[in-house]
Amino acid sequence: MSSVTSGPRKLYVKSYGCQMNVYDSQRMADVLAREGYVETAAPDDADLLVLNTCHIREKAAEKVYSELGRLRVLKAAAARDGRRLTVAVAGCVAQAEGEEIIRRAPVVDLVVGPQSYHRLPDLVARAERDGRVVDTEFPADDKFDHLAAPTSAATRARGAAAFVTVQEGCDKFCTFCVVPYTRGAEFSRPVQKIVAEVERLADAGVREIRLIGQNVNAWHGDGPDGRAWTLARLLYRLAEIPGVARLRYTTSHPRDMDADLIAAHGNLPALMPQLHLPVQSGADRVLAAMNRRHDCAGYLDVIARLKAARPDIALSSDFIVGFPGETEAEFRDTLALVDAVGFAGAYSFKYSPRPGTPAADSDAQVPEAEKTERLARLQARIDHHAGAFNAATVGRTAEILLEHPGKHAGQMVGRSPWMQAVQVMAPTSSRGQIVSVRISGTGTNSLYGTLLATPRPDDAAPWQDDSLRSEPVCVAGAGP
Ligand code: 5AD
Ligand code: SF4
Repeated sequence: MSSVTSGPRKLYVKSYGCQMNVYDSQRMADVLAREGYVETAAPDDADLLVLNTCHIREKAAEKVYSELGRLRVLKAAAARDGRRLTVAVAGCVAQAEGEEIIRRAPVVDLVVGPQSYHRLPDLVARAERDGRVVDTEFPADDKFDHLAAPTSAATRARGAAAFVTVQEGCDKFCTFCVVPYTRGAEFSRPVQKIVAEVERLADAGVREIRLIGQNVNAWHGDGPDGRAWTLARLLYRLAEIPGVARLRYTTSHPRDMDADLIAAHGNLPALMPQLHLPVQSGADRVLAAMNRRHDCAGYLDVIARLKAARPDIALSSDFIVGFPGETEAEFRDTLALVDAVGFAGAYSFKYSPRPGTPAADSDAQVPEAEKTERLARLQARIDHHAGAFNAATVGRTAEILLEHPGKHAGQMVGRSPWMQAVQVMAPTSSRGQIVSVRISGTGTNSLYGTLLATPRPDDAAPWQDDSLRSEPVCVAGAGP
């Protein structure tokens, strides 16, 4: 059946999980825009609907199947109107489950893994012409070379802060994690390609660059001098690009926090005082069983060196409770580590056995009720420290990058250097500016502040909408 709608074909992309997926969803939209697709905010209006999925925990993967159930109804309704709705599943569920997706959900026309997004227009055409297509290859070439650069209008529409993927995949093989299987081996993009992408973003008015990768601080891309650079060296280079005011990177592994990177937190003003450094557990036996390749003392040593370089650094982390064999005493070691570091925030998860990972086969699975109880205790402890961190910023003056309008008229929402969301009364024209704000109070998910000087309207970047909001700082699978 061919589409009977006139005008450009409409695309709806729904992103699950981490920031890598948000970035990939934008690149998919950019590739398809070259073929004439325009994005729509309404799924029932779409000709092509892409679910960009997350496989990190069972709950995340199951959400995709519930959504596909709902799409059956949408597809039938489109067919009744004489329209064709093509459904594609992308991301890590696509990579991990391949054909199985079509078996469980025949509504799906195309299954496409993260390494094939540059071939999306072809794959969609093939699926529409010949019937279902599954492409989960790991091709040897660099997909980034083929992905489209966004237009400057698309970049502006996405906001004052932008993600740039510099690294993909992971060679660490933590025993609970699917990432090495779904995203493959570590790959670092070369310096010149990253610089070119950041220059383009800065030209379009982006002020804050967030480098992302599953193991971002293991990045070691080739430099123009033919040698592998470190992430610290890349950060110094990016800070030289006119218009780039702020840099962040996420997610990092404790083992890869080298001395230069730690020093950069003290020496490079554009590098924001914030770091997401997952530790997962506070018990050495559990860390060893997780194959984390660091122990608690090593983690705390990195933290101490970061705090020495940048005393006000805001630290966040990821935790897993109820890893197979975790005892109550080991769990209490995790609580003690949370107290020792005093994180500004953290994500915590119940261990979720992932098929194909070593820990899933362990006989020592912790009962669900115990995981639930530990998670609640851990989250209370994390919330306590996050509350204390936020309360300590009240009364201080901070530089806030205003990113998008808030819920109420006349309000803008921005980010503090420490990644806190801050609500301020400010004109919409101030979007993209970094302004001085006195932090006046704390709310549930954000802080309140008052502008100390009126922003100059002529400084404003020509923002068009607020389609990109900054999401949590964690990469591999944070979020719903
Ligand atoms: N179960 C629970 N949490 C997990 N994570 C990764 N794999 C699992 C799993 N199988 C968590 C880790 C990681 C974060 C992105 O997701 O804490 O850092
Ligand atoms: Fe790699 Fe992070 Fe997964 Fe460990 S938790 S395997 S470091 S992506």
